[in-house]
Amino acid sequence: MYNRCATSIRPRRLKHKKIEWDHSAPDFTFFGNESNTINMIINLLMNALYFTPSAGKGGEVTLWTRIDDDNNYLYVKDNGCGIPSDVLPKVFEPLFSTRRHGMGLGLTFCKQTMHAINGEIDCESKVDNYTLITLKFPKLDPMPGFILQKDISQKSTIIF
Ligand SMILES: Nc1ncnc2c1ncn2[C@@H]1O[C@H](COP(=O)(O)OP(=O)(O)OP(=O)(O)O)[C@@H](O)[C@H]1O
Ligand SMILES: [Mg+2]
Repeated sequence: MYNRCATSIRPRRLKHKKIEWDHSAPDFTFFGNESNTINMIINLLMNALYFTPSAGKGGEVTLWTRIDDDNNYLYVKDNGCGIPSDVLPKVFEPLFSTRRHGMGLGLTFCKQTMHAINGEIDCESKVDNYTLITLKFPKLDPMPGFILQKDISQKSTIIF
């Protein structure tokens, strides 16, 4: 999964920034549409790369996982410009963007993708410091998951 996400990022977008995936973090299995999930992670990486400092200034995006008794988590953290507290509540709204050519659909797609699998997405940020996206995946439950997978395909069709 990591390789498919990483190879989808064009080198020109990296501009000497680093993407670090903590390979010592635990793997987990989730029930959901694989390409939607990859698209979601790519969207998060593109945001993180866009909003982190470029060459020489140490732009860094870190990904890691965590497992607890109830859920599995994937974290995407960058050391970029952060999001002001008055902007933070708007970032998941459709068509909200502070980018010059942004569509404001990336995080909306991520939110729909997570909700379709009964998961959650959260954004925490501190200006000039970091932005942390938390993806919460429910533990694997085959039967309800099968029904939800159809739901995901429908939702992704609406967005794209
Ligand atoms: N890692 C981040 N650091 C700082 N701001 C962010 C970050 N991720 C998202 N944002 C803020 O949230 C807004 C919405 O993000 P979203 O991904 O939905 O849209 P976008 O990146 O502007 O456009 P696109 O539809 O092309 O993804 C961004 O325009 C930006 O203001
Ligand atoms: Mg985006």
